[in-house]
Amino acid sequence: MSRTVQTFDLASGVKIPWLGWGNGSGQARNVPVQAGLIALQTGIRHIDTAQNYLNEGAVGETLANSGLLKDEIFVTSKLSGRKSDPSVDGYTVPVNEVRSAVQESIKKLGFIPDLFLIHSPHVAAHADLKKTWQVLEEMKDAGELKEIGVSNFRPQDLEVVLDGAKYQPAVNQIEYHPYTLAHLEPVLAIQAKHGILTESFGPLTPLLRHPTGGPVKPVLTKIAKRVTESNPSLPIPVDEVVVLLLWTRAMGVVAVTASGNEERIKLLAEISYLPENILTKEEVQEITSVGKTVHFRHYREHMEKDFALPDLPDGTT
Ligand SMILES: NC(=O)c1ccc[n+]([C@@H]2O[C@H](COP(=O)([O-])OP(=O)(O)OC[C@H]3O[C@@H](n4cnc5c(N)ncnc54)[C@H](OP(=O)(O)O)[C@@H]3O)[C@@H](O)[C@H]2O)c1
Repeated sequence: MSRTVQTFDLASGVKIPWLGWGNGSGQARNVPVQAGLIALQTGIRHIDTAQNYLNEGAVGETLANSGLLKDEIFVTSKLSGRKSDPSVDGYTVPVNEVRSAVQESIKKLGFIPDLFLIHSPHVAAHADLKKTWQVLEEMKDAGELKEIGVSNFRPQDLEVVLDGAKYQPAVNQIEYHPYTLAHLEPVLAIQAKHGILTESFGPLTPLLRHPTGGPVKPVLTKIAKRVTESNPSLPIPVDEVVVLLLWTRAMGVVAVTASGNEERIKLLAEISYLPENILTKEEVQEITSVGKTVHFRHYREHMEKDFALPDLPDGTT
């Protein structure tokens, strides 16, 4: 039986599958072709990669081996800079090299990605952030890029690119889960105003990286039990991981997760086809409110510089 990919709309109307599989973390990063093929064969239709995962070529290879057409898969890549290049300061890409760096990505992938992001505001020297965005705008105008967006952008970075922008970023990909909600409030307010879709990386952080799971974990356990009892015909067992990913979706946020484990990749694919509204509004609200009592972030280098943290405990005790 054919399954329909469950999507969100970008501001342009382009559809983006709500669950993406990334090859930038965990085992998926080490065996990107093998794991990517399992992902596509089991039904994942959204792959997230980046220049500094060194896996863009693997996406092209995976797609070629899968027998699927490019149009059946949504692919994102990112301008990351080249940390290993001693002549380049950190991750920055000089403005006059942005176009060729993007072209290099396209060459490695073998196609134009559906979405191309500035991986972090630190990829450009601060004075050059706007100009870097303008290069992406020009490439979009020239048909060299499709959708363009940003990642790890704080309020001050969003303001820079939004000021007089020809194209507003389609997405901001950030570490998003219940424990970053309080910190992200100013970012999310700007995004709501400008129709910028939020993409969550690290969506499973409360369960996988918080030392105790924190106050949200028992709430997820309770909801998983309720969902299991009231939906006996669901194709997969519903546990805390499933509930947390469904919460991300219910918040209108794309979940970019990962796995290199065959069974867990299959599970992620099954989750991506579940119907909407499995969680009640009250359950979504409970996860949100309990999450906002704590601040805990895994990928700290990205968003904590020059962006005030909320006055909250980290929930580890
Ligand atoms: N823009 C950025 O700066 C940025 C930063 C970080 C990540 N990302 C993107 O986001 C992707 C995901 O990031 P993330 O790894 O932090 O996401 P995550 O969803 O928080 O964690 C993924 C990890 O969860 C495990 N997992 C998957 N399904 C599971 C399940 N059912 N039960 C238990 N564990 C499960 C996987 O381990 P196994 O392999 O063992 O299954 C994997 O290592 C990356 O690959 C990358 O594409 C972007």
